[in-house]
Amino acid sequence: MKTIRLASVAALVVVLASLPAQAVEVDQKALKKEAIGIVKRFGGTLKPELKKALKSGGPAHAISVCSEKAPAIAQQLRSDTGWYIKRVSLKPRNPGAKPDAWEEKVLKMFDQRQAQGEDPKKMAYAEVVDGKFRFMKAQGVEKVCLNCHAAKVKPEVEAALKAKYPMDKARGYSLGQIRGAFSLAKDL
Ligand code: HEC
Repeated sequence: MKTIRLASVAALVVVLASLPAQAVEVDQKALKKEAIGIVKRFGGTLKPELKKALKSGGPAHAISVCSEKAPAIAQQLRSDTGWYIKRVSLKPRNPGAKPDAWEEKVLKMFDQRQAQGEDPKKMAYAEVVDGKFRFMKAQGVEKVCLNCHAAKVKPEVEAALKAKYPMDKARGYSLGQIRGAFSLAKDL
């Protein structure tokens, strides 16, 4: 009788001990899905705004969409979802888009993956760091991006960028390169 009870206690301990690890794994999958949804909302709001502004007023005018709408969308998503979200780049235009050490590591990894032929469209990376779930989704350079991120841009764009971003490093890009990434975090 006693051995049976001991055995069942031992079995229970084994079951309980294996639970947290499993729960974390399941969570990671769900969190990744949540993060991808937020990135889609960000891109899905910003890109149409950008295209609309390009069409109505040209690239020099559309610069204000990037500089005003992008942080506003990030702020809105933050209050809607509780996630931290921002855009970062190894060659930032906005000095505030400078990556931290973890983001820098991931951005360099994205560049490597791109150089090895991976399509930036689905390129992402997730990791639990210091009690936070962190997620990054690469942003590849498409044709429309070249208006403001290529080596050569229209003179009025050149002038507008110079006026607004004297420290601009986000130039010289070509199609398919990694321009930067959405960086998300959630406290666990
Ligand atoms: C109309 C000009 C314009 C176009 C077109 C444009 N951008 Fe930008 N981009 C900007 C400006 C201006 C900023 C700085 C925004 C800010 O102040 O936060 C920026 C910032 C960024 C950032 C944030 C990191 C940083 O360097 O500050 C990323 C990532 C980015 N752009 C990616 C893209 C991608 C990808 C495309 C194409 C889908 C694109 N951009 C098209 C003007 C443009």
